[in-house]
Amino acid sequence: MRVVKADPEGLCVAAAALKAGGLVAFPTETVYGLGADARDGRAVARIYEAKGRPSFNPLIVHVAADAEVAGLAVLDARAKALAAAFWPGPLTLVLRRVPQCPVSDLVTCGLETIAVRIPSHPVALALIRAAGVPVAAPSANRSGHVSPTTAAHVAADLGARIDVILDGGASEVGVESTVVDLSGAEPVLLRPGGVPSERIAAALGQPLGRRLDEETRPQSPGQLASHYAPRAAVRLDARAVRPGEALLAFGADTPPHDGPCINLSPHGDLVEAAANLFAALRQLDAAGVGSIAVATIPGTGLGEAINDRLRRAAAPRPAPRDEGV
Ligand code: TXA
Ligand code: MG
Repeated sequence: MRVVKADPEGLCVAAAALKAGGLVAFPTETVYGLGADARDGRAVARIYEAKGRPSFNPLIVHVAADAEVAGLAVLDARAKALAAAFWPGPLTLVLRRVPQCPVSDLVTCGLETIAVRIPSHPVALALIRAAGVPVAAPSANRSGHVSPTTAAHVAADLGARIDVILDGGASEVGVESTVVDLSGAEPVLLRPGGVPSERIAAALGQPLGRRLDEETRPQSPGQLASHYAPRAAVRLDARAVRPGEALLAFGADTPPHDGPCINLSPHGDLVEAAANLFAALRQLDAAGVGSIAVATIPGTGLGEAINDRLRRAAAPRPAPRDEGV
């Protein structure tokens, strides 16, 4: 595995690796992605293998321009409106595949639909353009682990399993893209994320349906009960910190605590809190505590995505994770 800086030379190395069927971790404005040529079934299979990802969870295809989306998916008026409002940016649209769509069935898990996004990070856009291929990329972490917002996070989690890490600094948004399914009659929010769902509903001029119920068949890995999980247990809505716990605080009004503590945003800014969330979970985990107490965080704007990720981090974990495979 090579870590390269996001300069012209590093971009060349990363683009060449993508074109050759390799796995390249690269920065996006949300989190780091683990990219492969979306048309190359073997390369895509390596993503699932490196992540230890259940193969029924389809991947997002990243492209650099609207014209490339049209070669993959059918854009109706709603999709065009959301594309105009939020692309490039942290929004993923689930659309119907066009019949001649060149993307491997492994990316879409054999579904008739495809998830597409145009990221806004200049390094991500430069990489996609230099490689000249649609890039399938989930978050660059082992399945179920906390998503990476720096190159160092990727190296710690995936290291030798991948070919290149393109280091473009810390991801600004800090939570994954919002996933909206436009393949049916009703627009449906599949995963809250970097674009607040209120803004999407406003741009569509209609409310979003929800399909976030854990009882139903998971359509997104974000819908599996335990996800985004640090090693430590996570306790939500903590008003006081118990002995041996670390504190993940928000805002000025924090419970008294002597042990490890990170405030996601001392002045209560949800955008700042989202940007800090995953790095903070990793840092508190590294302090070696058994449990992380999390203060109450408002659920509006980016707070919806933050609370979604924290609920999943706190969810019961089905089986001990096998770190060795
Ligand atoms: O911000 C992001 O979205 C990051 C960066 C790298 O772009 N990527 C990311 O990918 O979070 P991943 O694989 O961790 O999450 C992709 C989400 C999952 O919830 C997946 O189930 C959903 O998109 N998805 C992908 N294709 C789909 C499809 N055809 N139908 C329904 N959901 C789909
Ligand atoms: Mg992920």
